[in-house]
Amino acid sequence: MAEKLLEIRKLSAGFITEKGLVKATDQISLALDKGQTVCLVGESGSGKSVTSLAIMRLIDYAGGVIIEGNINFHGEDLTEKKQEEMRKIRGDRIAMIFQDPMSSLNPVFTIGNQIAESILLHQNKSKEEAWNMAVEMLRLVGIPAPEIRAKQYPHELSGGMCQRVVIAIALACNPELLIADEPTTALDVTVQAQILDLLRKLQAELGMSILMITHDMGVAAEMADRVAVMYAGAIVEEGTVQEIFDHPSHPYTVGLLQSIPGFEGERGGELYTIQGTIPPLGQLPGGCRFHPRCPHATDICRQKEPHEFLVGEDHRASCWLYEDKPVYKETASSSRDGVKSV
Ligand SMILES: Nc1ncnc2c1ncn2[C@@H]1O[C@H](COP(=O)(O)OP(=O)(O)O)[C@@H](O)[C@H]1O
Ligand code: SF4
Ligand SMILES: [Mg+2]
Repeated sequence: MAEKLLEIRKLSAGFITEKGLVKATDQISLALDKGQTVCLVGESGSGKSVTSLAIMRLIDYAGGVIIEGNINFHGEDLTEKKQEEMRKIRGDRIAMIFQDPMSSLNPVFTIGNQIAESILLHQNKSKEEAWNMAVEMLRLVGIPAPEIRAKQYPHELSGGMCQRVVIAIALACNPELLIADEPTTALDVTVQAQILDLLRKLQAELGMSILMITHDMGVAAEMADRVAVMYAGAIVEEGTVQEIFDHPSHPYTVGLLQSIPGFEGERGGELYTIQGTIPPLGQLPGGCRFHPRCPHATDICRQKEPHEFLVGEDHRASCWLYEDKPVYKETASSSRDGVKSV
């Protein structure tokens, strides 16, 4: 069996609001093997970024809290770490890149300086060694004439080049896990494809694992070994990329796939859109959280939160449609608190 690098178990994270403590992630479970890419997909507002902030324990600084659950990284529970310990893990063993490269870079320092700074912070190197490593990192992420570029400021580079710099900073310390939160959303389509290619190439060279967060099923198709589909704070379906795309089982996943241009569900050239919107934080409907938007909703869906069922090999979905399918059974982690197992 492949070695588990990250294993999230029944993690709930949320915010204290006027209505009290509300969950932005609701008992999510997710695992990532060494060298693997897992894509967390879902519409905007589904809790993807909160998940990544919780893993990094940056949620503490965003006004949020971890309510329950575990985040095992190499068997150590990150939810129990002090921020001082997390600071050593962040940027060193787990690195993160965000959607907007410009907000991640400091406009008043050269890009070479910013990469070198990250190296000096985490590794025992001289300034000169760190600078040379920074130039090498720029070369690795495909920036031409890296010796010259290293002396330039972020505003002298295009958006795509800046995102390459951000990737260089993230990878400078050779992290075991890279969390990429919508890393290509701010870029145009051609540059997006180049950055995804770059991430794949670097992953093959450096052997890191990637947790890729995206609202775009197309990105997941291109990058993922496994896909976890998130809706309103819960992972509603999870499986290998092949299973998810060949046998999408949760109606939400089916809706997401039908919204991709060119996907077989598309009819008469018109793109499908899932009706309705994600409920705001703290306003989950009773029963299945997707029921107000689901074309297959029945009475039980309005009354009881679905259990999680195995719908294929190594493929799970939380949907009552699979309750009576004799070949499948509930998964071990299926019963949520307050919900009776069948
Ligand atoms: N700092 C915050 N304070 C209160 N609510 C927040 C905060 N950050 C995110 N949320 C809420 O948590 C939910 C999930 O947000 P997020 O994880 O950013 O979604 P995604 O990344 O999937 O688009 C949303 O309802 C969002 O409004
Ligand atoms: S449990 Fe019911 S409402 Fe929820 S996704 Fe399945 S069919 Fe739709
Ligand atoms: Mg987000």
